Amino acid sequence: MKRQIGATGLEVNAIGFGGMPLSIKGRPNEPDAIKVIHAALDAGIDFIDTANVYCIDDNDLGHNESLIKKALQTWRGDGPIYIATKGGLRRPGGDWVTNGQPKELRRACESSLKTLGVDHVFLYQLHAPDSKVPLADSVGEISRLQEEGKIIHIGLSNVSAAELNSAQKIVRIETVQNRFNPMSQRDLYNDVVDACQKQKVTYIAYSPVGGGGHHVEMAEHPLLLEIAQDHQATPYQIMLSWCLSKGRHILPIPGASKVNNVVSSAAAVKIHLKTEEIQRIDEFSVVA
Ligand SMILES: NC(=O)c1ccc[n+]([C@@H]2O[C@H](COP(=O)([O-])OP(=O)(O)OC[C@H]3O[C@@H](n4cnc5c(N)ncnc54)[C@H](OP(=O)(O)O)[C@@H]3O)[C@@H](O)[C@H]2O)c1
Repeated sequence: MKRQIGATGLEVNAIGFGGMPLSIKGRPNEPDAIKVIHAALDAGIDFIDTANVYCIDDNDLGHNESLIKKALQTWRGDGPIYIATKGGLRRPGGDWVTNGQPKELRRACESSLKTLGVDHVFLYQLHAPDSKVPLADSVGEISRLQEEGKIIHIGLSNVSAAELNSAQKIVRIETVQNRFNPMSQRDLYNDVVDACQKQKVTYIAYSPVGGGGHHVEMAEHPLLLEIAQDHQATPYQIMLSWCLSKGRHILPIPGASKVNNVVSSAAAVKIHLKTEEIQRIDEFSVVA
């Protein structure tokens, strides 16, 4: 199963990989983290999401990008592998703080290129709009970085449909990355998923199995356990399959810090939920 990246004509595996759990608090050691990335690639995953701020704090910026670079250098398989990174946040004292100033975005992007060891990045995403900076200023600077050849394609993250529409007036946006899982169905009702489909924008579903703080609780839900049993699958795979069922433009990027979990996520493309099962999960919850 494949997903197109926006209107680029490029296709990737319908399940991507999110690198965040390999670099934040509780992360595995470096050799184990690299094994997880290799396992993702060996399982056919060819789209990896990262960010300069997937790290412990501002003294550790680029940790995840550096792991990905090392993993790609030592992987014995064949490409192409598509890397998406982001700028627009900082981690002072370990907090997550927006900084969408054009100067900061330029510095962050150039630093990501160095860390990844490339002269351009496949997809550069504004991590989140900064309420202190006009969106047009942040997107405008990313557009200039694209004109300079440092970025191939542009994406946004944590945006509304209105923000997507206003950014599209400045430069072509190929992806939107928002939180999406059976407990966070907001974007099905507020136009974001629809707007993406109409504009041929890939909707990248982050935290598709609930996110670091909630995944265990979600995986214990009786409805997911029941459907999983019928498919001889895990509740995590059912959540990923549900995400995929919501549109051919939806690309879930589950994270993992363990080899078994990433391998299991990649196998979720093989599950086909019945309409009635999808509808029962639809009723699961609508969390704003
Ligand atoms: N743009 C944004 O603002 C934003 C925000 C959050 C996340 N993201 C991106 O989205 C990615 C995914 O989100 P996330 O990592 O927060 O949450 P997630 O994908 O919902 O995963 C949370 C945890 O669930 C476990 N898991 C995942 N798949 C599993 C499976 N098949 N079987 C068993 N356990 C499984 C993993 O645990 P283990 O660690 O124990 O393997 C993982 O750490 C991130 O890595 C990041 O790239 C973006």
